[in-house]
Amino acid sequence: MKTYICQICGDAYVGHEKPSDCPFCGAPSHFIKEGKEARPIVNEKIEISELSGRNLEEALGLELRANAIYLCMASKAKSYEIKAMYKRLAKVEMEHAVICTKLMGIAMPKVEDQLCSEDELENFKKTIELEEHATNLYTWFSKEAIEINIRVFFTALTQVESDHIELIKNYL
Ligand SMILES: [Fe+2]
Ligand SMILES: [Fe+2]
Repeated sequence: MKTYICQICGDAYVGHEKPSDCPFCGAPSHFIKEGKEARPIVNEKIEISELSGRNLEEALGLELRANAIYLCMASKAKSYEIKAMYKRLAKVEMEHAVICTKLMGIAMPKVEDQLCSEDELENFKKTIELEEHATNLYTWFSKEAIEINIRVFFTALTQVESDHIELIKNYL
């Protein structure tokens, strides 16, 4: 067994092999390092520009909203698989929100409940819409960032949210 640490969320995964994606924030395997080598971006105190501050704030809002919507979708799911999948997505989005608050050095704001459809297909379509919006926005935010850690963060998130689109497409 070894300890692997995610460069994005800083969480440790203990296992026999490096996972293909971080089980907590979903970052792809190249962001996961063996314990000693890891320098997670959430642990580094950096000066954040006004622009990146605004972008992180917008990302935080999106992530919290996605978390609440996916919890709603989990509660409407017709099968255990879809319920469990949405609960996982909700946790991943909350992890992204936590990283935003750490990078900004602020407390976690209150999460407002969100509505969703009773219809599973509608919820899948809505999920793809949300993830496409996030992917496009984070691609832009990563280009805009002057701080390397913020660029790395948004690059990783772009990948994670676009992986979510692939996941949901399997169910359509
Ligand atoms: Fe992670
Ligand atoms: Fe996210």
